[in-house]
Amino acid sequence: MNINDVEKVYQEGKNRIEDVEDENELNNLRAELVGKKSSLNSLFSKIKELTIEEKKVFGEKINKARDALNSLIAEKQEKIRQKKLAKKIESEKIDVTLPSRTVTSGAKNPFKLIVDDFVDYFMSLGYEVVEGSDVETDHYNFELLNIPKDHPSRDMQDTFFIDKNRLLRSHTSAAQAHVMERAKGKGPIKVICPGKTYRRDEDVTHSHQFGQIECLVIDENATMGQLEETLTLMLRHFFGENRKVRFRPSFFPFTEPSVEVDMSCFSCEGKGCSMCKHTGWIELLGAGMVNPNVLRLNGFDDEKYKGFAFGIGIDRFAMLKYGIDDIKRIYTNDIDFLKQFSKE
Ligand code: PHE
Repeated sequence: MNINDVEKVYQEGKNRIEDVEDENELNNLRAELVGKKSSLNSLFSKIKELTIEEKKVFGEKINKARDALNSLIAEKQEKIRQKKLAKKIESEKIDVTLPSRTVTSGAKNPFKLIVDDFVDYFMSLGYEVVEGSDVETDHYNFELLNIPKDHPSRDMQDTFFIDKNRLLRSHTSAAQAHVMERAKGKGPIKVICPGKTYRRDEDVTHSHQFGQIECLVIDENATMGQLEETLTLMLRHFFGENRKVRFRPSFFPFTEPSVEVDMSCFSCEGKGCSMCKHTGWIELLGAGMVNPNVLRLNGFDDEKYKGFAFGIGIDRFAMLKYGIDDIKRIYTNDIDFLKQFSKE
C-alpha cells in the first residue's frame, strides 16, 4: 500500500462525483466511495500492516480524502436540488400578462326586487310572511274561498289540473285558507303571502305563470278604512308620495264588499297620458272585506271577527314600476335586460 493509492481513490471519486446527474446515482456513489464497503474503508483495514509512523500519516490522509469526498458529495447534492427546483419553477411559470377570464355576475330579477321590497315593507309593519305551495287542492283554492263547484267565477281562474282534485293554484288567496285553518278560529292574523300562481292566460301582459302577493288581516275591528290606508301607504312606498287611491265596486266571491283599486297615474300625475289611457288612473289590484262566509268556512266566528284582503300582481307591479313592455322578458333571464334594474 502506498500513499498514491489514497490519492488515486480520491481523484477517481472526485471525477465520478462530477459526472453524476441525479440524486439516486449520487446516493449509490456515496455508498461506493465513503460507505462501509468502499475502497477507502478497505485501505483503512490495511493500515494495521504499517509501522506506527506510517499509520499516522496514512490515517490522516485517508480521513482527509474521506472528508473531502463527503463535502464534494454534499455540494453536488445541493447543486442537484437547486437544478430540480429551478426546473420546477420554470414548469410552473405563470404568464401574468395573459388577459384574465371575464367574471360575470348576475342581477336580481325585477320580479324578485318587487317581492323583496314588499316583504321588507310589510315585515316592518309587523306582518308575517307565509308562502303556501304551488300545487293546491280544489278545496283550498276554491271551496274554502266561497267558490263552490260550478260557480261561474271559476271561469276567470281556469288553471292547470294535475288530477281531478289537485291543481296549480290560480291565486295566492289559497294560502289564506291555510293560514286561517292553522289559526283555529283565533285572531288577529296579519300575513302576506308572496308566490307563483298559474292561469290559462297568454298575451304581452299575461303569462300562464305569474306572481301574486296576498295580504290578509283578520281582527275584531278590521275596517275598510284600514284597508284603504294600508293600500295608500303601500302604493306611495312603491310609486311615489303623491299617489292617490280610488275604489270601484267589484266582485270576488271571497270578499264582500269587493273593490277594484286604482292608483293615480305616476307618469302624468293624474293629468292623462298613454300610461293611464288618458284617464289619470291605473287599474291595479283587487281587494275587499273578507266575506263572512269565508270566515265561517275557515272556522272563524263572523260575529266577532272581520277582515280585509287584497292581492297584487307581482309582474304587473314590476312592469309598471320599471316600464317593462312584455311580461315574457321577466322570464327569459336575459342578463343585459335584468342588469338595468338591480343596483346590487
Ligand atoms: N285573488 C284575487 C285574484 O287573483 C285577488 C284578490 C285577493 C281580491 C284578495 C280580493 C282579495 O284575482
